[in-house]
Amino acid sequence: MAEENLINGVVITFFSTASAVGKTLISVNMASELAREGYSVCLLDMDLQFGDVSNYLKLNPIYTMADIQRMMQAENSDFKIYEFLTEYEHRGVAFHVLPAPLQLSEAYNIEPEIVESMVRDLQRYYDYIIVDTTSMFSTLNMRLLDLSTIVTFLGIVDFIPTIKNMKIGNDTLRSLGYDSNKIRLVLNRSDAKSQISRADVENLLEERFYHILPNDFRSASTSIKTGVPLVLSPDDSELARALRSLVSLYTNKPVEYESIAEPGDISEEKSGGWLSKLFN
Ligand SMILES: Nc1ncnc2c1ncn2[C@@H]1O[C@H](COP(=O)(O)OP(=O)(O)OP(=O)(O)O)[C@@H](O)[C@H]1O
Ligand SMILES: [Mg+2]
Repeated sequence: MAEENLINGVVITFFSTASAVGKTLISVNMASELAREGYSVCLLDMDLQFGDVSNYLKLNPIYTMADIQRMMQAENSDFKIYEFLTEYEHRGVAFHVLPAPLQLSEAYNIEPEIVESMVRDLQRYYDYIIVDTTSMFSTLNMRLLDLSTIVTFLGIVDFIPTIKNMKIGNDTLRSLGYDSNKIRLVLNRSDAKSQISRADVENLLEERFYHILPNDFRSASTSIKTGVPLVLSPDDSELARALRSLVSLYTNKPVEYESIAEPGDISEEKSGGWLSKLFN
């Protein structure tokens, strides 16, 4: 990678206030689709304790974030971060991964300041830096949110406690003073069975979902089992098409797959709808 080609990469972070909403699956697919389109991409696994990126991509990294932190702390001026990343490659599509530490003990020692330097360093070499996080407002995540160009706040419509936390998360993100376009509210597993409708949640959040991804357990689990992201698989599932459309939206390209449902009419119900009554 030539020093004269330095760029200022776009940082896209996946965040949520609940576990298992699809942060890792969607990050991996976004990295893959951007790489398929010819962009240089680095995917960062910031789920330090229980990171799944290497698992979802079937990678066996030699160096992890813990090694890279040690090298950065050594302040060797010859250190080049891209020389210590792990490559994912499938049928000619390739991108780099900065894996989470392998040991729980190493995860405790990762310093938010060093992570910030890693991200800033990666921005010099990659068009896109995709960041997979955990579901909490921690010091590290707050720093990552600040550094991000786009924050994808992921939600699912299932049970009341998850939705309550989504409301808290969305209100908190909106209170941080970011440009309103920076935070994108995305619904995953949209047609999963639930007594609560998408419109109920939009009423509660007082915001429409920016994009909607369908529920497809079979395709999602096959991709994890095989280590081939949905967007790189020959099975052209509805979920893969919806994931590609999310990338098109983020890269300002025409969208081929329209969200499966028309947005609900927020104005139909007065402020917040029936769900909000449960939380006040
Ligand atoms: N659209 C979808 N349809 C069906 N299953 C999905 C979908 N998206 C994700 N899943 C499944 O949900 C599970 C959780 O996904 P994932 O690991 O990406 O969530 P996460 O938000 O990263 O979780 P964690 O907070 O534990 O890191 C996985 O088994 C994945 O296959
Ligand atoms: Mg995850």
